[in-house]
Amino acid sequence: MQKTYKFVTAEEAASYVNNGDIIGFSGFTPAGCPKEVPTAIAKRAEAFHAEGKEFKIGMYTGASTGDSLDGALARADAILFRTPYQSNKDLRSALNTERAPYFDMHLSALASHLRFGFMPKPNFAIIEVCDITADGELIPTSGVGISPTIANLADHIIVELNHNHPKELRGFHDIFEPLDPPHRLPMTLLKPSDRMGTTSIKVDPKKILCVVETWRNDEVGGFAPTDEITDNIGKNVATFLAGEIKSGRIPKEFLPIQSGVGNIANAVMASLGTNPDIPNFEMYTEVIQDSVIALIKSGKIKFASGCSLTITTPILKELYADLEFFRDKLVLRPQEMSNSPELARRLGLITINTALEADIFGNVNSTHVMGSKMMNGIGGSADFTRSAYISIFTTPSTAKGGKISSIVPMVTHVDQNEHSVNIIITEHGVADLRGKSPIQRAHEIIEKCVAPEYKEMLREYLTLNSSCHTPQSLSACFGMHREFLKTGTMLGTKWENYKD
Ligand code: COA
Repeated sequence: MQKTYKFVTAEEAASYVNNGDIIGFSGFTPAGCPKEVPTAIAKRAEAFHAEGKEFKIGMYTGASTGDSLDGALARADAILFRTPYQSNKDLRSALNTERAPYFDMHLSALASHLRFGFMPKPNFAIIEVCDITADGELIPTSGVGISPTIANLADHIIVELNHNHPKELRGFHDIFEPLDPPHRLPMTLLKPSDRMGTTSIKVDPKKILCVVETWRNDEVGGFAPTDEITDNIGKNVATFLAGEIKSGRIPKEFLPIQSGVGNIANAVMASLGTNPDIPNFEMYTEVIQDSVIALIKSGKIKFASGCSLTITTPILKELYADLEFFRDKLVLRPQEMSNSPELARRLGLITINTALEADIFGNVNSTHVMGSKMMNGIGGSADFTRSAYISIFTTPSTAKGGKISSIVPMVTHVDQNEHSVNIIITEHGVADLRGKSPIQRAHEIIEKCVAPEYKEMLREYLTLNSSCHTPQSLSACFGMHREFLKTGTMLGTKWENYKD
């Protein structure tokens, strides 16, 4: 293999990339993303800019990436466009100030939209691998994302061979790309541990422009420690699910769990793991976070299928030290499979995702702060929610020290609508929206989930435009947000100041 491919420095690899090039990057979250070449491309962009020359690239990623990718390119002002999900603070700042055109997409749809030609074709793919064979087999590392599709579509592939990920990861991946309509066939998985693909991404070796070696760790940030609020949210999720099993609404053998990204999702998983009334279970999910690994070790999680091991370096090292234990308990797939609505519906997933805000009628906003500032993106939340067996959204009842109520009359941006959201859970309780009219849902959410200091305000809101199917007041529905923008807190909202 050493003889087959050209081994170069990251700077030399980056020198092949020019202004206007469109690059697909491997990985999903910081797991499995290239690190050396993106940083070198950012430096190249800075050098061009210093000479007064244009240098920007189009970027397709699996989801968020590490700071050496999104952060470096954002700081270098080198982004022509970028999709999908991101969570880097410098990129967030760039896209919220129009320095980096960003469009947010459902993660399950990205690979197929690239193949359909809905967006410009990537001419480069930069793919991190733990191994590469002379005949063009690429073995991904800790995240797969859109790697198979970009490897197929791109004219040139730059490989980052990361020696921090063991070659023995071969076998942990299930790589499959569906045919496009009208030739598409069913994805045949019947349970999370089934497989239908290959263990590597096969490419024409002639497309591999060069290989860059690296020993850098994934840049997965730590999770916030759990606190009383996240513990209570987690307990409420576990108690709700235990009750559903007891009532027979969830089969007694239980169903696979999908769990979202972030601190709250990590805490919820930890709570599910310690509740004795929750049977051992399987996961069919997108990101596998730290708490899932602990639960696989304890036996509570029997199997986890995901798109990435979004786990902190010490935990990833522990996993790699005990790889054989995990071999029959974990699989990583492209996001087109891990987030497939077809599979979510067939497997009967219980989906648990996080809202920034929800409204009293059941619509959820997970992406936009005050309707205008992008936080991260929709990620896979709608891929799963819309096709779930039961869809759950969790959120602390307030944000920013109580100055914001996470439950409002109308969300300022809709990611999931009232027709897809079944259950809303805060630290105060569980609102079950199934089979309820809008007004019944509003009472359920206010009484079960809203923080005590905001309950009366929301009860009163319902009287502003009563006697209709959905009692929204078009003049007052954003009154709490407008009050926050004016005074720095929603607490003093008076409806007479906002209604006509
Ligand atoms: N208004 C303004 N800010 C709010 C808010 C609201 N209603 N609710 C939360 N926030 C802020 C928090 O204060 C916090 O800000 P900080 O970082 O400045 O402290 C930030 O949002 C994140 O909140 P946190 O409580 O730490 O939540 P999290 O880490 O669990 O992330 C989401 C929550 C919604 C941002 C995250 O889950 C996400 O990006 N979801 C969308 C994609 C998705 O669901 N993917 C999963 C599919 S598999």
